[in-house]
Amino acid sequence: MNPKQLVGEKATEYVQDGMIVGLGTGSTAFWAIQKIGQLVKEGLKIQGVPTSKATEQLATELNIPLLDIANVRSIDVTIDGADEFDLQKQLIKGGGGALLREKIVASISKVFICIADASKSSEVLGSYPLPVEVTPFAYQVTAYQLEKLGCSPKLRMQENKPFVTDNQNYILDCKFDKIVNPAELTVKINKIPGVVENGLFTNIATRIICNTEDGGITIIE
Ligand code: 5RP
Repeated sequence: MNPKQLVGEKATEYVQDGMIVGLGTGSTAFWAIQKIGQLVKEGLKIQGVPTSKATEQLATELNIPLLDIANVRSIDVTIDGADEFDLQKQLIKGGGGALLREKIVASISKVFICIADASKSSEVLGSYPLPVEVTPFAYQVTAYQLEKLGCSPKLRMQENKPFVTDNQNYILDCKFDKIVNPAELTVKINKIPGVVENGLFTNIATRIICNTEDGGITIIE
C-alpha cells in the first residue's frame, strides 16, 4: 500500500457513527476521504465538513453527506495532512493553498489528526516555506512587512498568474531560516494588515500518524 494511503486509512479508525468529520485537503487527506467514502457506502453514518472546494467535490463524488460550516459549531474529528511537523506536533500547512479553511475547521475540532510521511518531520520548523494567505490588495506592502520578520516572501504563481485561493486571496510563501517559536511568530504575522491567515498550526494537532522508513506507522500523541 502506498505510504499516504496507509496513514490516511489508519486515521479513519478514529471515525465513528454519528460524528461530524472535518475533511482535509491534499494528496494524503485524499486517501482518508476515499476510505470514509467506502465506509459510508458500507453504512457508516457521518457528516463531513470540507476544507476546500476540491475536497468538497471529492466528497460529493463519494456520496459523503456534507454540512455547510456556517451551521457547524463543533467538529468531532478532523483528518488533514501537513507540509512539515515537529515532535511537539506543531505544523506548517498550506502547501495546497487551503490553509485558511483548514485552520477554521481545525479551530472547532475536538480532535485533529495529522497524517504525514516521515520526510515531513523536522526538529525545528522552517524547512518548508511558510504559506501566508494575503489580500490581493497591496500584497506587495504585506510582503514587505513580512520580510521584516526575517523571511523572504515569494508570491505563489500558477500558470504565469498569481495562485488564487478558494477565498479569492493570494499566497505568499515565506522562507524562514528556523522557526524557533511558531506560536510567537503566528501572532506577529497575523498582526500585519493584509494578512488573512498563516500556515502555522500550533496547539492544534491531537496526534500525528506518520509513516516510518521501514514501511510501518508511528503515532505521535
Ligand atoms: C493544503 C495542506 C495539505 O495538507 C498539505 O499541503 C499536505 O499536502 P499533501 O498531503 O498533498 O502532501 O495544507 O493546504
